[in-house]
Amino acid sequence: MPIRLHVMKNHEEASRHVAEMFQQTIREAPASVLGLATGGTPERVYELLCQFHREDGLSFSDLTTFNLDEYLGLPAGHDQSYRSYMTERLFGHVDVNPDRVHLPRVDDFPPDEAARQYEALLQQTGHVDLQLLGIGTNGHIGFNEPGSARDSVTRVVDLTEETIRSNSRYFEDESDVPRRAVTMGIATILKAKRVVLLATGGSKSRAVAEAFGGPITDANPASFLQEHGDAVFVLDEAAADGLAGILHGVP
Ligand code: PGA
Repeated sequence: MPIRLHVMKNHEEASRHVAEMFQQTIREAPASVLGLATGGTPERVYELLCQFHREDGLSFSDLTTFNLDEYLGLPAGHDQSYRSYMTERLFGHVDVNPDRVHLPRVDDFPPDEAARQYEALLQQTGHVDLQLLGIGTNGHIGFNEPGSARDSVTRVVDLTEETIRSNSRYFEDESDVPRRAVTMGIATILKAKRVVLLATGGSKSRAVAEAFGGPITDANPASFLQEHGDAVFVLDEAAADGLAGILHGVP
């Protein structure tokens, strides 16, 4: 099934589209399992979800959530951990049940054990109903860097230099950026019932075009989404810029 596309005017419109998809899922099935992502891209989506909670009574109380990944090597409670990110941007502002909020438990267990437990918990829970993804400039999804296998599951990974450089904007010094992480695998992500990838800005246009219309290859891990039955890319015009050639001739 080809990936579906929604090209919106700008970051705000694309974020709003994705936030509405989540709102609709939560209203239709309040006990859904949501897959969540971190990074700069989804920040506005979380702001909007907080607003829907505050102003329109959208309730998170019956949801279960699983984040894609977590850094290794940061002190517990570090403000750049993805647990802190989620608390600051979403969980701390809505009525989510803390017992049903999941990130890899890297502060409590050795990394391999945290990864194994996370995959087991995901399988035990069933499937993710709606998975949010970003994409790296190198095509990574979660921290599945180029070279990640189609059948990979939750595991410890090394981050590429490109990812470390890109994430250094959140740290005082590039040397402070963690070198490793625990991430859901490609196979783990593909088990989600529905997947929405949000990408905005021209820096993502090459990775997006390759993922959407290029060969399915571990050189661009997001290209594996072409094998998913229900994946949609929500883009702004800048991120969609590389698609013109690929879409040429498509009615
Ligand atoms: P970004 O990261 O949202 O900070 O650009 C996306 C990603 O690396 O998946």
